[in-house]
Amino acid sequence: MALAIIAMFGSGLWIEELNYYDKLYQTIPHIHESIGIILVGVLVFRLIWRMTNVEPDTSDLKAWERLAAHGVHWGFYALIAAILISGYLISTADGRLIAVFNWFDVPAIWQAKHQEDIAGDVHEILANGVIALAVLHTLAALKHHYIDGGGSLRRMLPPPRKSQHNPQIDPQENSKEET
Ligand code: HEM
Repeated sequence: MALAIIAMFGSGLWIEELNYYDKLYQTIPHIHESIGIILVGVLVFRLIWRMTNVEPDTSDLKAWERLAAHGVHWGFYALIAAILISGYLISTADGRLIAVFNWFDVPAIWQAKHQEDIAGDVHEILANGVIALAVLHTLAALKHHYIDGGGSLRRMLPPPRKSQHNPQIDPQENSKEET
């Protein structure tokens, strides 16, 4: 999702640069909107996943750090949801549907006065906000990994085969237990 959102940010800025005579005048918005709608499904899946799975162990963090981490994580979800909704409201402001990769259509269900302008401003501000939060989040993750130690970034990688931790077949684990 992080990579998709960075790509969405880039393509959003690109849309702003396009003019009517550009070859990609319709293509880039079409891709931006289509990926955005797919991200709605991914976000819902991710939220269900988060609520039904074990969270990473944060017992090594101080209470305020745990609070800050929670705030940043839920801040991300709220921001992303609001960006997706505001994007949908820009694109459907004139009653037009969104043809997601010409695969399925998402209808316009809401039109209000000045919708395109207001949703456009909200979309831009929140998109900048999500990137700012991502920078903050990355700096915090790097601090935990390199300054505080503990190898927190390694937890993002799949566990090495050995760490399926069957002490009977893992001699290192056996020797750890003996000492
Ligand atoms: C996480 C997802 C998204 C991100 C990070 C994102 C980011 C951006 C950014 C940075 C811009 C340029 C804003 C500006 O400088 O004025 C933009 C424009 C735009 N986005 Fe998104 N966007 C996302 C999702 C969506 C979705 C889901 C839709 C529609 C279904 C959408 C539709 C649009 C449209 C139509 C514009 C052009 C607005 C205009 O011309 O004023 N975006 N987006």
